Amino acid sequence: MLSRNLLVQAAALAVGAAAAGSVSCPADAPLSCQATYADACCFNSPGGQILLTQFWDTNPSTGPIDSWTIHGLWPDNCDGTYEQYCDSSREVFNITEILKANAPCTLKYMQTFWKDYTGDDEDFWEHEFNKHGTCMSTLEPKCYPSYQPHQEVVDYFKRAVKVDRTLPTYKWLAAAGIVPSTSKTYTLAEIQATLTKNHGYEVIIRCSSGELNELWYHYNVRGSIQSGQFVPVAPVGSPSNCPSTGIKYLPKDGTNPSPPTKTSTAPGTTATAAPGQLSGKGFLYATTPGQSNGGFLISKGTWYRDPSGTPAGYTATPNSDGRTFTLKTSKGNCAVKSDTLTCDTSNTSPSSFGYDGTYLTFGNSNTFYATELPTGQTQGTVYTTPKSVSFQVTWKAS
Ligand SMILES: *[C@@H]1O[C@H](CO)[C@@H](O)[C@H](O)[C@H]1NC(C)=O
Repeated sequence: MLSRNLLVQAAALAVGAAAAGSVSCPADAPLSCQATYADACCFNSPGGQILLTQFWDTNPSTGPIDSWTIHGLWPDNCDGTYEQYCDSSREVFNITEILKANAPCTLKYMQTFWKDYTGDDEDFWEHEFNKHGTCMSTLEPKCYPSYQPHQEVVDYFKRAVKVDRTLPTYKWLAAAGIVPSTSKTYTLAEIQATLTKNHGYEVIIRCSSGELNELWYHYNVRGSIQSGQFVPVAPVGSPSNCPSTGIKYLPKDGTNPSPPTKTSTAPGTTATAAPGQLSGKGFLYATTPGQSNGGFLISKGTWYRDPSGTPAGYTATPNSDGRTFTLKTSKGNCAVKSDTLTCDTSNTSPSSFGYDGTYLTFGNSNTFYATELPTGQTQGTVYTTPKSVSFQVTWKAS
């Protein structure tokens, strides 16, 4: 009896112990796409070719400058075709809320490494789950012993993050001397050789306008998405589409080849500047999902939404690095201390900010936070680490 228990335990470890109330599958379930198997809760079918896809976004830049970001976790069929939007009844529109309540560490990782290039991460995550997550057979509600709504949504994102953590693409490429550059180019063969060495199999390498933009890592899975074992495999389906030579791997942020553009527009019109350095005087407006009145930042660096107020004048001063800048108001230099923004004479050294072409950025993120939406005469303290309300800040030259 004892030895049998130990075996069962070892088996559970082998497939990654499933959380209580979650799917548990036999350790000897076959690999998806490499067999047939009756139990679609322990065998991804027909979508058994699972892809973890990553982006390298430079225009505008998303995520840390030294990391690729997640695009999604996709169930391709074994021949490379795929299903999509498989169950409209399970589509979700509050992933941030669901993860906040059930998987805060996963959410935190996603807020850094799973970024939408337009700044609407929630919308991007919804698209990925609703299009792809609803097509994974092992995530279906019937696979859970006592299904709670959105349990599979949590499992989808947890697994995507867990797989992404095993794929430090930036470091792998950098170790082979393949680093972002505005002038250097690379061959498809050298990028492929490095990725293949690390993944074990060919990786699909995708370019946009000759620029390295996306990678698709392929897997078969033994057991479920939730707790199964991901085994790297050769790709099927769409091939790499990069040119064989001259591939650009551009740096993120203001080091894009398009020179940083100074914003200078008539007062009251929206500035459309390229990513880069802001310079001169302007206003900072807030935009937040679902609110037509986003408000603006006032002179202390706080967020104000009362329509009777007026935005404070900010002065942007370029730094010598050619991409970041400092901000100040009539109250003094603007600085982020711990995670709180203030503009005050006591700020002897101002913080450096960036601009991604649409939004103000700080530390590679274009999202700012508040503990609640400010109403009436309340000034909302602006934070740079996640709080219940998130917003973006646009620049309007004055
Ligand atoms: C998410 O939205 C659904 C449907 O509107 C709702 O039933 C559920 O309570 C929400 N979950 C959270 C954590 O907000």
